[in-house]
Amino acid sequence: MAEEKMEVMLTAKQIEGRIKELAEEISEDYRGRKILVIGVLKGAVIFLSDLVRHLTIPVEIDFIAVSSYGADTNSSGVVRILKDLEQSITDKDVLIVEDIIDTGLTLTYLYENLLRRGPKSLKVVTLLDKPDRRQVSFNPDYCGFKIPDRFVIGYGLDFDEDYRHLADLRVLEP
Ligand code: PRP
Repeated sequence: MAEEKMEVMLTAKQIEGRIKELAEEISEDYRGRKILVIGVLKGAVIFLSDLVRHLTIPVEIDFIAVSSYGADTNSSGVVRILKDLEQSITDKDVLIVEDIIDTGLTLTYLYENLLRRGPKSLKVVTLLDKPDRRQVSFNPDYCGFKIPDRFVIGYGLDFDEDYRHLADLRVLEP
């Protein structure tokens, strides 16, 4: 579907403004410390890129790829690691960066998995949260926007790998 035909839920400008606020809050909370930011591929890549450039503390970056969705818009509930981190997180201040929390299954799995590796601290920032879709309780430490239960694409989020590059967050109607 053509980009212009899809309703905009959040403009690039709204997203940018909120990310600056999140970066300020995170920089303040971790003041005097270095954090390891872990991006959850692939959806979080664009959010992570924008977020880290507004942080005022030292940052290291790593990525992990976890799959829970196929070409379907529903969660399968199956979580597996497709690509693991390149470094140990033991004794580090770790911040997981996600684009969206939906059922909560991915982060519940990932959080437990990373916690077992012995980080000094482990927190989560998500750009988007769809609380109406939760199957397991999960509360992020930082959240950009709570959004209604509509299928959104753009700003890193895809449908069947399309639309990730769109600057605005848009609604893909069935
Ligand atoms: C999306 C999103 C989260 C997960 C959230 O990833 O990036 O990782 O789903 O859903 P949940 O709360 O229901 O588990 P996806 O598997 O679509 O992969 P992608 O990031 O590569 O698009």
